[in-house]
Amino acid sequence: MHHLVSIEDVDMRYGGAAGTLAVSGLNMKVGKGEFAAVVGPSGCGKSTLMKLVTGLHLPQRGAVLVAGKLVTEPVSIVGMAFQNPTMLPWRTTLDNILLPLEIVEKHRHRLRAHKKEYVEKAEHLLEIVGLKGFGSKFPWQLSGGMQQRANLCRALIHEPELLMLDEPFGALDAFTREELWCVIRDLHAAQGVTIVLVTHDLREATFLADRIFVMSARPGRVLKEHVVPFERPRDLEVMYEKGFNDMVHELHGEIAKARVAA
Ligand SMILES: Nc1ncnc2c1ncn2[C@@H]1O[C@H](COP(=O)(O)OP(=O)(O)O)[C@@H](O)[C@H]1O
Ligand SMILES: [Mg+2]
Repeated sequence: MHHLVSIEDVDMRYGGAAGTLAVSGLNMKVGKGEFAAVVGPSGCGKSTLMKLVTGLHLPQRGAVLVAGKLVTEPVSIVGMAFQNPTMLPWRTTLDNILLPLEIVEKHRHRLRAHKKEYVEKAEHLLEIVGLKGFGSKFPWQLSGGMQQRANLCRALIHEPELLMLDEPFGALDAFTREELWCVIRDLHAAQGVTIVLVTHDLREATFLADRIFVMSARPGRVLKEHVVPFERPRDLEVMYEKGFNDMVHELHGEIAKARVAA
């Protein structure tokens, strides 16, 4: 399989030689088009892993490759969405979604020349996530769930090959979260985008992912990899099957063990 993401024996330490070793001996490979989930104890280096892949941090040891290229600076084929969407309150939702295009040099000229096309694309994404017609609203006029939907549109506007999601649904209520799982599931199926999802919600990981990586306590490394066997497309009903609960249970046990082993 061609790997879109390859993390090879990586160490990453914050704050100089005497600082915090966040991850050590980290290895992980994600295939093109795959949906990977990363779970592990809190503080084990999951967000660090995300920042290494997106090029926001560089490792002191080992290598991170995205699409076969060594990561040495922020990677432009990546879209990111984090837990607390930071929408600019003075911009409409639509203009917030277009923001990445204004920031990334490569897209800036295209945005100017093809503004109408991008506005249409943003509106199409809004429709996919169930926010048709909300582009003209300001972020503070939207609920938390709606803001997170808009945040997903913003992560996808530049058609990234790789979508990195760091606990994107943590702040939402259970029903809204399940709705957004279906949105992500459908985006993944329709757009062929590769997704890496960090989550502490083991049901979320099991429902969405093809493969789940379990990390150790800090310094984080991958302890175990699970292939999720449930057929796609998956319905929320799958969560009530025995096999599903067995997998969640097993993951829970592994993380509980990893926590005390620290
Ligand atoms: N910018 C930073 N400076 C210093 N230490 C950090 C920084 N970011 C994270 N850390 C530390 O690195 C470890 C891993 O953090 P993080 O990757 O955010 O964990 P997770 O996302 O799994 O909760 C933690 O001990 C955290 O305190
Ligand atoms: Mg984190």
